[in-house]
Amino acid sequence: MRATELAHLAIRRSVNPGDCAIDATVGNGHDTLFLAELVGPSGRVFGFDVQETALASAAEKLGGLPQVRLVHAGHETLAEHLAANDRDRLAAAMFNLGYMPGGPKDIVTRPETTLSALRQALDHLKINGVVTLVLYPGHPGGAEEADAVRSLALGLPPAFTAHRHAPAHTVRPAPELIVIERQR
Ligand SMILES: C[S@@+](CC[C@H](N)C(=O)[O-])C[C@H]1O[C@@H](n2cnc3c(N)ncnc32)[C@H](O)[C@@H]1O
Repeated sequence: MRATELAHLAIRRSVNPGDCAIDATVGNGHDTLFLAELVGPSGRVFGFDVQETALASAAEKLGGLPQVRLVHAGHETLAEHLAANDRDRLAAAMFNLGYMPGGPKDIVTRPETTLSALRQALDHLKINGVVTLVLYPGHPGGAEEADAVRSLALGLPPAFTAHRHAPAHTVRPAPELIVIERQR
Protein backbone atom coordinates (compact mmCIF):
# COMPACT_ATOMS: atom_id res chain seq x y z
CA MET A 1 0.00 0.00 0.00
CA ARG A 2 1.30 3.47 -0.89
CA ALA A 3 2.19 6.06 1.76
CA THR A 4 -0.60 8.35 0.49
CA GLU A 5 -3.20 5.58 0.87
CA LEU A 6 -2.00 4.80 4.39
CA ALA A 7 -2.28 8.51 5.22
CA HIS A 8 -5.94 8.45 4.15
CA LEU A 9 -6.61 5.45 6.40
CA ALA A 10 -5.07 7.20 9.40
CA ILE A 11 -7.03 10.40 8.74
CA ARG A 12 -10.33 8.62 8.16
CA ARG A 13 -10.16 7.15 11.70
CA SER A 14 -9.90 10.57 13.33
CA VAL A 15 -11.99 13.03 11.34
CA ASN A 16 -15.74 13.42 11.85
CA PRO A 17 -18.44 15.71 10.47
CA GLY A 18 -18.11 19.22 11.91
CA ASP A 19 -14.35 18.97 12.52
CA CYS A 20 -11.70 21.35 11.29
CA ALA A 21 -8.87 19.98 9.14
CA ILE A 22 -5.88 21.34 7.25
CA ASP A 23 -4.43 20.37 3.90
CA ALA A 24 -0.97 21.92 4.26
CA THR A 25 0.00 21.21 0.62
CA VAL A 26 -3.04 21.47 -1.67
CA GLY A 27 -1.38 20.72 -5.04
CA ASN A 28 -4.08 19.26 -7.28
CA GLY A 29 -6.52 19.15 -4.36
CA HIS A 30 -6.99 15.38 -3.92
CA ASP A 31 -6.43 15.51 -0.17
CA THR A 32 -8.45 18.73 0.18
CA LEU A 33 -11.47 17.04 -1.39
CA PHE A 34 -10.97 13.95 0.79
CA LEU A 35 -10.92 16.11 3.95
CA ALA A 36 -13.90 18.20 2.78
CA GLU A 37 -15.99 15.04 2.39
CA LEU A 38 -15.03 13.82 5.87
CA VAL A 39 -15.82 17.08 7.70
CA GLY A 40 -18.99 17.74 5.68
CA PRO A 41 -20.79 21.07 5.27
CA SER A 42 -20.73 21.80 9.03
CA GLY A 43 -16.93 21.45 9.17
CA ARG A 44 -14.03 23.47 7.85
CA VAL A 45 -10.99 22.67 5.72
CA PHE A 46 -8.13 25.11 5.26
CA GLY A 47 -5.94 24.37 2.25
CA PHE A 48 -2.57 26.05 1.77
CA ASP A 49 -0.36 26.29 -1.30
CA VAL A 50 2.19 28.79 -2.56
CA GLN A 51 1.27 28.08 -6.22
CA GLU A 52 -1.67 29.99 -7.60
CA THR A 53 -2.03 27.51 -10.50
CA ALA A 54 -2.31 24.62 -8.03
CA LEU A 55 -5.04 26.42 -6.10
CA ALA A 56 -6.93 27.23 -9.32
CA SER A 57 -6.93 23.58 -10.38
CA ALA A 58 -7.93 22.48 -6.86
CA ALA A 59 -10.78 25.05 -6.80
CA GLU A 60 -12.12 23.56 -10.02
CA LYS A 61 -12.02 20.06 -8.55
CA LEU A 62 -13.75 21.24 -5.34
CA GLY A 63 -16.60 22.93 -7.20
CA GLY A 64 -17.19 25.62 -4.56
CA LEU A 65 -17.71 23.40 -1.49
CA PRO A 66 -18.63 25.89 1.27
CA GLN A 67 -16.55 24.17 3.98
CA VAL A 68 -13.25 24.75 2.11
CA ARG A 69 -11.05 27.84 2.43
CA LEU A 70 -8.15 27.84 -0.04
CA VAL A 71 -5.32 30.09 1.14
CA HIS A 72 -2.66 31.32 -1.26
CA ALA A 73 0.15 31.37 1.31
CA GLY A 74 2.81 29.11 2.75
CA HIS A 75 1.69 26.63 5.40
CA GLU A 76 4.10 28.33 7.81
CA THR A 77 1.36 31.00 8.17
CA LEU A 78 -1.18 28.35 9.23
CA ALA A 79 -1.92 29.59 12.75
CA GLU A 80 -2.68 33.12 11.47
CA HIS A 81 -5.54 31.75 9.38
CA LEU A 82 -7.30 29.60 11.97
CA ALA A 83 -10.21 31.30 13.71
CA ALA A 84 -10.35 30.81 17.50
CA ASN A 85 -13.15 28.21 17.32
CA ASP A 86 -11.40 26.31 14.50
CA ARG A 87 -8.31 25.92 16.71
CA ASP A 88 -10.32 24.00 19.30
CA ARG A 89 -11.60 21.49 16.76
CA LEU A 90 -8.50 20.82 14.64
CA ALA A 91 -8.79 17.08 14.05
CA ALA A 92 -6.25 16.58 11.29
CA ALA A 93 -3.51 18.09 9.20
CA MET A 94 -2.13 16.46 6.06
CA PHE A 95 1.30 17.26 4.62
CA ASN A 96 2.17 15.75 1.25
CA LEU A 97 5.68 17.12 0.86
CA GLY A 98 7.94 17.67 -2.14
CA TYR A 99 6.79 19.19 -5.43
CA MET A 100 3.57 18.89 -7.39
CA PRO A 101 3.63 15.97 -9.83
CA GLY A 102 3.89 17.49 -13.32
CA GLY A 103 4.59 20.95 -11.82
CA PRO A 104 7.78 22.98 -11.41
CA LYS A 105 10.35 21.04 -9.39
CA ASP A 106 11.83 24.18 -7.83
CA ILE A 107 8.55 24.98 -6.03
CA VAL A 108 9.10 22.44 -3.33
CA THR A 109 8.51 22.18 0.40
CA ARG A 110 11.54 23.02 2.56
CA PRO A 111 12.61 21.80 6.00
CA GLU A 112 12.44 25.15 7.83
CA THR A 113 8.91 26.07 6.71
CA THR A 114 7.68 22.48 6.95
CA LEU A 115 8.85 22.22 10.58
CA SER A 116 7.35 25.59 11.45
CA ALA A 117 3.97 24.54 10.00
CA LEU A 118 4.15 21.14 11.68
CA ARG A 119 4.79 22.72 15.10
CA GLN A 120 1.83 25.10 14.61
CA ALA A 121 -0.47 22.23 13.60
CA LEU A 122 0.61 20.19 16.66
CA ASP A 123 0.01 23.22 18.93
CA HIS A 124 -3.63 23.37 17.81
CA LEU A 125 -4.38 19.67 17.40
CA LYS A 126 -7.23 18.39 19.55
CA ILE A 127 -6.98 15.17 21.59
CA ASN A 128 -7.11 12.12 19.27
CA GLY A 129 -6.28 14.41 16.36
CA VAL A 130 -3.79 13.22 13.75
CA VAL A 131 -1.10 14.76 11.57
CA THR A 132 0.17 12.82 8.55
CA LEU A 133 3.30 13.63 6.58
CA VAL A 134 4.23 11.86 3.35
CA LEU A 135 7.99 12.25 2.89
CA TYR A 136 9.86 11.92 -0.42
CA PRO A 137 13.55 11.34 0.32
CA GLY A 138 14.38 10.71 -3.38
CA HIS A 139 14.44 14.25 -4.80
CA PRO A 140 17.16 16.90 -4.20
CA GLY A 141 16.69 18.24 -0.66
CA GLY A 142 14.09 15.55 0.11
CA ALA A 143 16.37 13.42 2.29
CA GLU A 144 17.27 16.43 4.48
CA GLU A 145 13.60 17.36 4.84
CA ALA A 146 12.69 13.76 5.70
CA ASP A 147 15.46 13.65 8.35
CA ALA A 148 14.24 16.92 9.88
CA VAL A 149 10.63 15.70 10.09
CA ARG A 150 11.66 12.32 11.54
CA SER A 151 13.75 13.91 14.26
CA LEU A 152 11.01 16.36 15.26
CA ALA A 153 8.46 13.49 15.35
CA LEU A 154 10.72 11.25 17.45
CA GLY A 155 11.47 14.05 19.93
CA LEU A 156 7.88 15.00 20.73
CA PRO A 157 6.64 15.05 24.33
CA PRO A 158 4.66 12.05 25.66
CA ALA A 159 1.31 13.71 24.86
CA PHE A 160 2.02 12.64 21.25
CA THR A 161 2.75 9.29 19.64
CA ALA A 162 4.57 9.05 16.32
CA HIS A 163 4.69 6.14 13.88
CA ARG A 164 6.84 5.72 10.82
CA HIS A 165 5.66 3.54 7.92
CA ALA A 166 8.39 2.84 5.38
CA PRO A 167 8.95 0.00 2.90
CA ALA A 168 11.17 -2.72 4.36
CA HIS A 169 13.17 -3.16 1.12
CA THR A 170 13.72 -0.61 -1.63
CA VAL A 171 16.41 -0.13 -4.27
CA ARG A 172 15.94 3.67 -4.36
CA PRO A 173 14.75 5.99 -1.56
CA ALA A 174 10.97 5.46 -1.36
CA PRO A 175 8.13 7.63 -0.02
CA GLU A 176 7.31 7.04 3.62
CA LEU A 177 4.61 8.13 6.02
CA ILE A 178 4.87 9.67 9.47
CA VAL A 179 1.68 9.66 11.56
CA ILE A 180 1.56 11.76 14.72
CA GLU A 181 -1.38 11.43 17.09
CA ARG A 182 -2.22 13.58 20.09
CA GLN A 183 -3.07 11.34 23.08
CA ARG A 184 -3.85 13.96 25.71
C1 LIG B 1 3.32 16.81 -3.43
S1 LIG B 1 2.48 18.29 -3.81
C2 LIG B 1 0.94 18.08 -3.00
C3 LIG B 1 -0.01 17.13 -3.68
C4 LIG B 1 -1.45 17.25 -3.19
N1 LIG B 1 -1.61 16.85 -1.81
C5 LIG B 1 -2.46 16.54 -4.08
O1 LIG B 1 -3.28 15.79 -3.56
O2 LIG B 1 -2.44 16.78 -5.30
C6 LIG B 1 3.31 19.50 -2.79
C7 LIG B 1 2.71 20.90 -2.88
O3 LIG B 1 3.30 21.70 -1.84
C8 LIG B 1 3.30 23.03 -2.30
N2 LIG B 1 4.19 23.83 -1.44
C9 LIG B 1 5.52 24.04 -1.51
N3 LIG B 1 5.94 24.83 -0.50
C10 LIG B 1 4.82 25.12 0.24
C11 LIG B 1 4.58 25.92 1.43
N4 LIG B 1 5.56 26.54 2.07
N5 LIG B 1 3.31 25.99 1.88
C12 LIG B 1 2.28 25.36 1.23
N6 LIG B 1 2.45 24.62 0.12
C13 LIG B 1 3.70 24.51 -0.36
C14 LIG B 1 3.72 22.93 -3.75
O4 LIG B 1 3.35 24.07 -4.48
C15 LIG B 1 2.96 21.65 -4.19
O5 LIG B 1 1.75 21.96 -4.80
